[in-house]
Amino acid sequence: MKLKLLGTGSAIPELKLTNADLSTVLDTDDEWIRERTGIGSRHIAVGEDATTMAVRASKKALEAAGISAEEIDAIIVSTTSGSDLLPATACIVQRELGAKNAFAFDISVACTGFITGLTTALGYMEMGMCKTVLVVGTECLSKIMNWNDRGSCILFGDGAGACIVTGHSGKGYKPVIHTNGKDGGALTCRQMYAKDENLRKIIKIKLAELDNNEHNRELKEQYEAALNEQENVQVAMDGKAVFQFAVRQVPNVINEVLKLNEVEPDSIDRYVLHQANRRIIESIAKRLKQPENKFPTNVFEYGNTSSASIPILMDQLIENGELTAGMKICIAGFGAGLTWGAMIIDL
Ligand code: ACO
Repeated sequence: MKLKLLGTGSAIPELKLTNADLSTVLDTDDEWIRERTGIGSRHIAVGEDATTMAVRASKKALEAAGISAEEIDAIIVSTTSGSDLLPATACIVQRELGAKNAFAFDISVACTGFITGLTTALGYMEMGMCKTVLVVGTECLSKIMNWNDRGSCILFGDGAGACIVTGHSGKGYKPVIHTNGKDGGALTCRQMYAKDENLRKIIKIKLAELDNNEHNRELKEQYEAALNEQENVQVAMDGKAVFQFAVRQVPNVINEVLKLNEVEPDSIDRYVLHQANRRIIESIAKRLKQPENKFPTNVFEYGNTSSASIPILMDQLIENGELTAGMKICIAGFGAGLTWGAMIIDL
C-alpha cells in the first residue's frame, strides 16, 4: 500500500524567545547558540498546551485536505509533553474536532514519534482497519525543560504539526525504525513519583511494618527511595552523546531505507529531517553526499520541537511551494530512546 498525503497543518505558539532573551536569565549568548546549533529563536506555549496546539494544527490539516472531521477513521498523536495523562491527547483531539468515527490513541517515541505515527497509520490501513488517518506531532517541551541548564533548554521549542494520510493500492515503500534502549540514558525525563500525602502516609506505615529479613531489606530500600525521590520532571541530556548518535545513525537509516526500497539517493527531491540542530543536519547531508539545499530547515526560527518538527516543516514547505505533488521525499527522525527511523513518501 502506498501512503498518500491529503493535507497538512501546523500551530506555533505566539511567544517568541530569542537567544538574546535567554541570555537575560542564563550565562549564554546569541553567537554561541547560533554557531553550535543554528538556532536563533524558539516559540514557547503560554496559555495553551500540547492539546490545544494539536487541535489547531489538525483543523488546518482538515481544511487543507478538504475533508470533514467525520471522514477521519483514526487519530494518532505523538507527544512526550502532553497536557493530560488521562485521557490520551488523541482522544481530546477527537472530541474537539468532532471526529466521532475515529479511534484514537497516543504514542510516545519522542523525536521519532511522527515517523512512528505514520508507519502505524500505514499498518492499520494495510490491515483494513481504516482509510483516512490524522497523524499529529505536538510538544509543549517548555514545561519539562530545566531552564537552568544552558546545555539543553536553548535547543527546544513548542509547536504542533498535523498530517492527514490515506492509503492507495499498489506497491508502497517499506519504512525502517530502530531502537537502542541500552543507550537511552543520553536523553531522559523522569516522571515524578506521586506526592499525594495520603499515599505517602500509607507507604510509611507499610515501611514501618516490614520485618528485617533479606527480602524485606530490598523492599525497604525501594520504599525509602520512593519517599525520598525529588520532584524533578525535567529533561536531562548528554549533548555530545546525542550528537554522535544522530550523525552516525541517521545517515545509516536513510541509506537502509533507500536500499530496502531500491531508491537512489539522487532521486530523493528533499530530505525532510527532524529539526534538532543545523550542525547535525549539515553533517548528515555531507555523509550522504547530497547537496545541502535538499535538506530544508526551519530550526533557526523554531528550535527543536521533537515529534512536531517534521510535520511543521512539511506544512511550511507545502505552504511556500517547496514541496509539490510529484516529488519524492525521505523523512527521518531520531531522538530519545534512543530511537531513529526513516521513510520515503511520494507526494
Ligand atoms: N552557552 C554558552 N556556553 C555553553 C552553553 C550555552 N548555551 N551550553 C554549554 N556551554 C558551555 C559548556 O558549559 C562548556 O563549557 P566548559 O568548556 O567551560 O565546560 C562548553 O560550552 C562546551 O560545551 P559542550 O557541551 O562540549 O558543547 P558542544 O559543542 O557539545 O555543544 C550542544 C553542545 C549544542 C548541546 C551539542 O552537543 C549538540 O548539539 N548536541 C545534540 C543535542 C541535540 O540535538 N539533542 C536533541 C536531539 S534528540 C531530540 O530531538 C529529542
